[in-house]
Amino acid sequence: MTTYETVLQSLEQLGWAVSDGLAPAGLAPRLYDECRALWEAGRFRPAEVGRGPRQARQDAIRGDAIHWLEPDSAGPASREFLVWITQLRTMLNQAFFMGLNTEEFHFARYPAGAGYTRHLDQHQGATARKVSVTLYLSPDWPVDGGGELRLYEEKAVSGPVATVLPTQGRMVLFLSDQVPHDVQPGTQPRWSLTGWLRTAAGLPL
Ligand code: OGA
Ligand code: MN
Repeated sequence: MTTYETVLQSLEQLGWAVSDGLAPAGLAPRLYDECRALWEAGRFRPAEVGRGPRQARQDAIRGDAIHWLEPDSAGPASREFLVWITQLRTMLNQAFFMGLNTEEFHFARYPAGAGYTRHLDQHQGATARKVSVTLYLSPDWPVDGGGELRLYEEKAVSGPVATVLPTQGRMVLFLSDQVPHDVQPGTQPRWSLTGWLRTAAGLPL
């Protein structure tokens, strides 16, 4: 099976997939350089939780800072990523008839000691986000560096079904409305590119 086929099969059977070979070779280090430059230029903002009037910064829930990619102003590596993710979205539509038609992505930086408590990526009453995608960017992440993403079964009270070290170039995909997950605090800053493949907002589902 190709890497794509393995990922599609895992998504179909488990609702999630982890792959070190899916993202284009060599892209993660270039994305890392771009996001470091944006960070150093002061282009990150503290991430918030919730939406509408209840949207707010809550350090106890989520400790990262983010920078949203905008196609017009994105650097060369970010633009390459957006082109590639559009192709991946098309393949997912062909495989699963998911009707995904947009994407939104942000760089994220978790300082040492910060994580994100267990949550689902679909906000209440907003079902546009269908597939969550994260590409890890930190080079040389140590095996004892923490920062793991942990995935859980939908209603499970048991432990995680997957624990993913944020190794550079590793990609995780999962169904946004079905896979609760959390981010463990790490021992050093943790950089990633995270986003969502979406259906048209406002369409009846
Ligand atoms: C998120 C998230 C996971 C990760 O941003 O919603 O869950 O591993 N990120 O960074
Ligand atoms: Mn999440």
